[in-house]
Amino acid sequence: MTFRLTELPYALDALEPHVSARTLEFHYGKHHKGYVDKLNQNAAGTRYEDMALEDAIQESYKNDETSVYNNASQAWNHTFFWDSMRPGEESRPRGSLSDMIDDQFGGLDEFRKQFKEKAVGQFGSGWTWLVADEDTLAIVSTPNADSPLITPTTPLLTLDVWEHAYYLDYQNSRDKFVDAFLEHLINWDFAQDNLDAFETRRQLQV
Ligand code: FE2
Repeated sequence: MTFRLTELPYALDALEPHVSARTLEFHYGKHHKGYVDKLNQNAAGTRYEDMALEDAIQESYKNDETSVYNNASQAWNHTFFWDSMRPGEESRPRGSLSDMIDDQFGGLDEFRKQFKEKAVGQFGSGWTWLVADEDTLAIVSTPNADSPLITPTTPLLTLDVWEHAYYLDYQNSRDKFVDAFLEHLINWDFAQDNLDAFETRRQLQV
């Protein structure tokens, strides 16, 4: 077993009432675990089994090895999604990320509006991301298992908009789940840490 299911960074009931313990029990314990298990099955005996997860994603994408790619990318995306949320009510950006959101989106309310439009508008399964791209931020959606790891951009936070992420709590009302994420659940410290790491890498490359 090469790839391991990462630990959930909080208790199953920590995000209630916005995400129920039952949703997390299935989403983490069945769906996320399922991707890791299938990745291990598909990678067994191949060159992928000794790779870091990020390398397995990029190599399998380049080589069109869909079964490894989809499960590896979904395994990585879910870990990034758990880290994009945290328990508690207050959810506002700080530091340089707060300044960039003010400059580029005209404030947090407009950012939330644009993020919601992208997330609700994603047809079928996928993910909505805040990414850093050179000197700018962008909100992008990716279909199915795709992530910014196969693009030149750097992910700062993500929202899972697969139906399994919200159906038990919100049924077909993806918009209500998106609102809960934007208003109550985002871990802005995680996003800021990712932006800081991105800036540091850029400075080292100059
Ligand atoms: Fe998911």
